[in-house]
Amino acid sequence: EPATTAGPAGGAPTGPTGGAPGGTAVRLPDEAELAEGGLRLELDGAVATVTLARPERRNAMTFATWRALAAIGRALPPEVRVVVLRGDGPSFSAGIDLSMFSGGEGGFPFGADDATGDAFIAELQEGYTWLRAPEIVTVAAVHGHAIGGGFQLALACDIRIAAEDAGFCMKEPALGLVPDLTGTKPLVEIVGVNRALELCLTARTVDAAEAARLGLVERVVPSGGLDAALEELTAQLLAVNAEAAVATKRLLLAAPENTLAEQCAAERREQVVRLRALAAAFRG
Ligand code: CAA
Repeated sequence: EPATTAGPAGGAPTGPTGGAPGGTAVRLPDEAELAEGGLRLELDGAVATVTLARPERRNAMTFATWRALAAIGRALPPEVRVVVLRGDGPSFSAGIDLSMFSGGEGGFPFGADDATGDAFIAELQEGYTWLRAPEIVTVAAVHGHAIGGGFQLALACDIRIAAEDAGFCMKEPALGLVPDLTGTKPLVEIVGVNRALELCLTARTVDAAEAARLGLVERVVPSGGLDAALEELTAQLLAVNAEAAVATKRLLLAAPENTLAEQCAAERREQVVRLRALAAAFRG
C-alpha cells in the first residue's frame, strides 16, 4: 500500500513541491505506476533512492517516467533529506525513449498548438524541478551514458558523482530538438554560455575526467565505486544540521539571481532565524 503523506496541520501535504494543488492529500506512486515509469523507489528513513530501472532500454525515459518522478516529488515523506538518483545496468540513462517520437497514442503531440504543447512539456518538466527544493539534497550517481534527458536529470540534481566510465552528452540538437527538461540553466550556470554552446551544438560526449574539470560533476570515483561513494556522501550530508541545510540550500540557490546587497540581506534573514533556534536549543 503506498504511503500517503499527511502534513502536520490538518492533512496538508508536505512533499518538497508542496503537494497537489488545492491542498488535497497526495500519495507516492504505487508499484504499478513506478513500473510503468521504469522506476524503483526505496525509502530508508532520511534517504530516498530513485532508480531508473529499464536497463534493457539503457534506462530510456518515457513520459510515464517523468510523470512518476513528479509524483514522487509531490509526495516525498517529510523525513526524507537526501534523494539519490541512479540507474540499473550499463547506463545511467540513454535519455528520451525514442519510441516517444514515433507518434500514436501517448506519443509526442507533434501537431499541438502552442498552449497545448507548452502545457504538455511543463508537466514533464515537473519531473525535474522538484529536485531543486531546499528541503532535500539531491544526488545523481552517474555511470555509463547520461544522454539528453538523462544528462538533464543529472543537471537537475544538486550534486553529481560520476564513475570513471561516465559520459555526458546533450544530444537534442543533433536530433532536431532543444534540451527542454530544465537542463539549459544549470548547464550555463556551471560551464558558461560558450562552453554550453560548444557542448550542445557538437552533441559530443564529455567523459568523467573532463566533466570534473568543467565542474559538471563534484566527485569522480572508480567504476564500481558508486555505492561506497554514495554511502560516504549521504553520511556526510545527514551529519549536518537539518534546518541549517535547508536554509543554506535556499540561500545558495538564490545567490545567482540576487545582487550582493540582496544576498547579504537574505543571509541576515536566514541567520537570525538560525540563531534564535540555536539559542532556544541551548536553553533546552
Ligand atoms: N530509446 C529507446 N531505446 C533505446 C534507447 C532510447 N533512447 N537507447 C537505447 N535503447 C535500446 C536499444 O535500441 C537497444 O535495444 P535492442 O536490444 O532491442 O536492440 C537497447 O536499448 C540497448 O542499446 P544498445 O545496444 O545501443 O546499447 P549500447 O550500450 O551499445 O549503447 C547507447 C548505449 C549509447 C545509449 C545507445 O543505445 C544510444 O545511443 N541510444 C540512443 C540515445 C539517444 O539518442 N537518446 C535521445 C537523447 S535526446 C533526449 O533525451 C531528448 C529530450 O530529452 C527532449
